[in-house]
Amino acid sequence: MAERVVLAYSGGLDTSVGIGWLKDATGKEVVALAVDVGQEGEDMDVIRQRALDCGAVESIVVDAKDEFANDYIVPALKANALYQKRYPLVSAISRPLIAKHLAATARALGADSVAHGCTGKGNDQVRFEAAVTALAPELTSLAPVRDFALTRDKAIEYAALHNLPIAQSKKSPYSIDQNVWGRAVETGFLEDPWNAPIEDLYTYTQDPSIPRPATEVIITFDQGVPVAVDGKPVTPLEAVVLLNKLAGDQGVGRIDIVEDRLVGIKSREVYESPAGIALITAHEELENVTVERDVARYKRGVEAKWSELVYDGLWFSGLKKSLDAFINDTQKYVTGDIRMTLHAGSAVVTGRQSTQSLYDFDLATYDTGDSFDQSMAKGFIELWSLPSKIAARRDQAAK
Ligand code: ARG
Repeated sequence: MAERVVLAYSGGLDTSVGIGWLKDATGKEVVALAVDVGQEGEDMDVIRQRALDCGAVESIVVDAKDEFANDYIVPALKANALYQKRYPLVSAISRPLIAKHLAATARALGADSVAHGCTGKGNDQVRFEAAVTALAPELTSLAPVRDFALTRDKAIEYAALHNLPIAQSKKSPYSIDQNVWGRAVETGFLEDPWNAPIEDLYTYTQDPSIPRPATEVIITFDQGVPVAVDGKPVTPLEAVVLLNKLAGDQGVGRIDIVEDRLVGIKSREVYESPAGIALITAHEELENVTVERDVARYKRGVEAKWSELVYDGLWFSGLKKSLDAFINDTQKYVTGDIRMTLHAGSAVVTGRQSTQSLYDFDLATYDTGDSFDQSMAKGFIELWSLPSKIAARRDQAAK
């Protein structure tokens, strides 16, 4: 029996041509695997059939939307994950999930390798291969676009020559990756970082500058996980889908950033992540109310490190797992309601309540009923600043 390779299949030109290209270059049978992470667009059955028409021996579609929400989006939300403080890791968290299914499928079908359609210039190649290696070290990763120099022009030529059933005409100037957590758009005129994004780039968000009435929403969390929206119980996936609509309609979650890729390149990226920005904003504020000061302060540093690890393709690394353990522990009391106003591109928290709240009205109030003993403050400050005082005396004496 010929050896097999499992290809992460999107249905697009590169991975469609990649099927024949891989077969020609390696002699292996190609199994196509399309993972549904809520990218919408084309029907998954159409994609499944296309892989067979392009020469795959087997074509598999996995609906991983709930798995993506529960096991990838929820940890990212608990981590308030924003790379460079802005990017909600839209593509970065989908790659380890796809890699997990690639590895599992390869093992189940006795394949010796997996393949993806990434170029050699981006982060995604690293994320796929690092994840596959961490889960199934015996597998080899192949990258036809990168390793067998499958350029776009060659792909179009190959598709025409072999009569592959792929539309090659409407060549989008953009490279787009999307899933239920958001959308990443790059290349085309955006490669000049001075060029402003134009409205037709966006599909998850409406133009925030168009006047419209504001939307108010209440998000309920249980131990860091969104469990209800406006009182209606939801799964994490349902929460994300619902907030993509509510926040997206108000233009929330547009991001335009020059980003540091792992491979050393700075690249200009446009993202939309309406649910991502709304949920992270709400979750972080609920932490402000329910998490002890020092845990909260320390966690902000952990969040930045977690985001960098995940951005850099180390989802299945030891450090990432250990940070997850810390983050999960911090979520014990992150339970309660956040009310927010979605309007003109912003998600603004206007109210918070929690049975686990550490906010003590009697301590905080400046009105009568104040239970805070202000006389304690004077001595506290003296001891707090004592080391600085002693050092200052020494420095003065030395002058
Ligand atoms: N730069 C982003 C990242 O590394 C998005 C990459 C998405 N890919 C794409 N073809 N647009 O996570």
